[in-house]
Amino acid sequence: MKPLCDVHDYQQLAKRRIPRMFMDYVDCGSWTESTYRRNASDFSKVLLRQRVAVDMSNRSLATTLVGKDYALPFALAPIGILGMMHADGEILAARAAERAGIPFTLSTMSVCSIEQVAKATTQPFWFQLYVMRDREFAGRLIDRAKAAGCSALVLTLDLQILGQRHKDIRNGLSTPPRFTPDHVYQVLTRPRWALQMLGTRNHSFGNIVGHAASATGMRSAAHWAAGQMYLELNWNDVEWIKQRWGGKLILKGILDEEDARLAVESGADAIVVSNHGGRQMDSAPSTISMLPAIVDAVKGRIEVHLDGGVRSGQDALKALCLGARGVWLGRAFVYGLAARGQQGVSEVIEIVRKELDTSMAMSGERFVTKVGHHNLSSVPAALMAERHAVPEST
Ligand SMILES: Cc1cc2nc3c(=O)[nH]c(=O)nc-3n(C[C@H](O)[C@H](O)[C@H](O)COP(=O)(O)O)c2cc1C
Repeated sequence: MKPLCDVHDYQQLAKRRIPRMFMDYVDCGSWTESTYRRNASDFSKVLLRQRVAVDMSNRSLATTLVGKDYALPFALAPIGILGMMHADGEILAARAAERAGIPFTLSTMSVCSIEQVAKATTQPFWFQLYVMRDREFAGRLIDRAKAAGCSALVLTLDLQILGQRHKDIRNGLSTPPRFTPDHVYQVLTRPRWALQMLGTRNHSFGNIVGHAASATGMRSAAHWAAGQMYLELNWNDVEWIKQRWGGKLILKGILDEEDARLAVESGADAIVVSNHGGRQMDSAPSTISMLPAIVDAVKGRIEVHLDGGVRSGQDALKALCLGARGVWLGRAFVYGLAARGQQGVSEVIEIVRKELDTSMAMSGERFVTKVGHHNLSSVPAALMAERHAVPEST
């Protein structure tokens, strides 16, 4: 096997390891996928400032995220049905995160349940909540996350309604899989993946089956979840969730200065500048292009994190320079998992860590908590140009 040097190499290997319908599920955005592409490509518009003859010994990437010490300024983003990218994917990714000293975020729509992940790990992880129409169910999820010792609740705000993903429709991706002749072919040509799946009993929505009234199996759980989109979600809900949870609260899906200010008022502990990896609103701006304005709007009153298009340590460094305290890896770690299981996630985290560490050194910085605008080669005017061209609303 050729050496795996960067996240892209893991993406290529993942493509060869898992059925195409699942790879496409990961590697797609909504409608024209313009925001999905822009998230990654806008990073290339930000340039780093190179310094020389500066002491670069004894560097540290350690930081604190929502009040807890971590070895790196990274978190693993919540990914639905991670357990279909690799058998027991949530447990493996959580273990890799734990070994790297970073938080793992378990999705509401995970295959392995909150309790299973808690049992298989020793460090607290974060739990991501989708608020559903069934408030009692949402309340019970919060209580279960609390009982499992989760150290932060990540409330996703950008998925009240679903963006359309053409690839999933064209692939006939459904839960449970319908197994058309094409699907059978895809599975048979990925025997390693098929064998893994035969070796685990976790194939369903672990947080839902047996916990929602009518969800007794995968089919009924999927059916139940589809009817649970909570269109009314608003800031009053954030308030009751905050009360019921009572711990650190992170709001995910903020992409606008005004919403960022409202997030500050809500009393949350952190926000994630995110557009759901370009899977929701198509033609929304990239997260990296919105980061400076949002950091400016919140004026240090709330911790700001970012996800979307981060594929390297250089990308992470750019986000940190522009004011993010934490950078979340999404597809990057999924490629590692799909390619090589837990080891693959560890390897991807290590690749991105090393890229960040080395690039930070080349910037003349020794502590990740000290990087800032002064480490950028120029104010990223190109990045902001499209926004500045829009007249102020009245
Ligand atoms: C396959 C896939 C599934 C996702 N599932 C969830 C989810 O269940 N909950 C959530 O809040 N975000 C979900 N997201 C969004 C990610 O948490 C994150 O915002 C996004 O992946 C960041 O972009 P990146 O993948 O380009 O790094 C998902 C993203 C992908 C690619």
